[in-house]
Amino acid sequence: MEKITSIDQNLFIKFAEKYGTPLYIYDADLIVKRYKELYKYITWPKLKILYAMKANYNIGILHLLKSSKAYLDTVSPAEVHLALKLGFSKDDILYTANNITGEEMREIKKTGVLFNIDSLSRLQKYAAAYPGSEICIRFNPDVYAGAHKHVKTGGEITKFGILLSDVNSVKEITNKYNIKVVGLHEHTGSGIGETDKVYESMTNLLKIANQEDFPHLRFIDFGGGFKIPYKPTSARIDYAGFGENISSIFSDFCKRYGRDLYMYFEPGKYIVAESGYLLIEVNTIKNNRGRLIAGTNSGFNHLIRPLLYSSYHQIENISNPNGELKIYDVCGNICETGDCFAEQRELPEIREGDKLIIKNAGAYCYSMGSIYNLRSMPSELLIAGGKEFLITKRLSNEELAESIISSANEVITF
Ligand code: LLP
Repeated sequence: MEKITSIDQNLFIKFAEKYGTPLYIYDADLIVKRYKELYKYITWPKLKILYAMKANYNIGILHLLKSSKAYLDTVSPAEVHLALKLGFSKDDILYTANNITGEEMREIKKTGVLFNIDSLSRLQKYAAAYPGSEICIRFNPDVYAGAHKHVKTGGEITKFGILLSDVNSVKEITNKYNIKVVGLHEHTGSGIGETDKVYESMTNLLKIANQEDFPHLRFIDFGGGFKIPYKPTSARIDYAGFGENISSIFSDFCKRYGRDLYMYFEPGKYIVAESGYLLIEVNTIKNNRGRLIAGTNSGFNHLIRPLLYSSYHQIENISNPNGELKIYDVCGNICETGDCFAEQRELPEIREGDKLIIKNAGAYCYSMGSIYNLRSMPSELLIAGGKEFLITKRLSNEELAESIISSANEVITF
């Protein structure tokens, strides 16, 4: 199996002692490798890879990607403001928000970042407010694919995108207000294992470009969704072959179209998932009528993917890697029954005080975290070129309590 990280078990133990647990750790070198290798796999020369920063907005990671000349896919005004404050150029950012308000539209317009509009209703409002301006249009590719129903964004049961069959209405509105459609977009889902589904979505969107005249078209954006192997038994997709197929679909299209357009992709998971680890500590072993429960000092507030999507995350017992194999439920400290990272998982014997790592925790883990039960988020440590950078620091329990009081708008006592 490919050795993908330079962080070994001894280092994890050292980090636990130095920074405490729970702790998120990211391998910066792997993030850069993943970002750059997509340019090797997808050979179409006019390519832009936009990092979907919702996957992980850690500012160390964003700085790192900026130094690798990355582009960004953003989904909220605060993401745009953060990216601009960190020095990303407005021209390197696409804004793909869903169900936005008029106020949000005006706020983003002021920044100069390009809109990717995903409903006829918003298109009408945008076009009337900013006639003559440029936009990108998000279509629903009419393909249902992804790792879980909550992350499938195409097909019939979705709130995203404009139906392909509504392209005439898009044309009517854009013609009426002299709007320049510079990009067409689709995002099918996350963790797409069937590469055929990606080709199908691409083909469906490309048909729109062929069918309608969009004279200002500069790029076609096929979203994110590149799958990574979460289970040790899952094979990695042949990304070199996948990249070649994608490139040939696009180059055939451009030949027919008569102009070489830019091709965009917007992966989040692919770039950061494998770089991340959540390092936690076991404090309680319980035997519930034969069911062994390892209770840890983290919980679904720090890593919600298993609970939300039944996602599998590999777990290693780094304190006792050669222990006798036993079956465990690995649980957190949150007062809810669903608070488990893994159920009935075979692991080397876990003892109280052992440190565990939860792998592939770089995407949609910290960024989907919360302080539920009033438990602080972990610190985040970025390892770059062998150097340690503690990018975010966990609040102490007292600091967290204080932050609740100090963020109150109005303090009342009865
Ligand atoms: N572009 C758009 C418009 C998106 O909505 C998303 C993800 C992406 C790109 C990036 O997709 P990725 O390459 O990361 O799969 N929280 C879920 C994933 C939700 C993805 C939402 N949209 C998870 O943890 O699996």
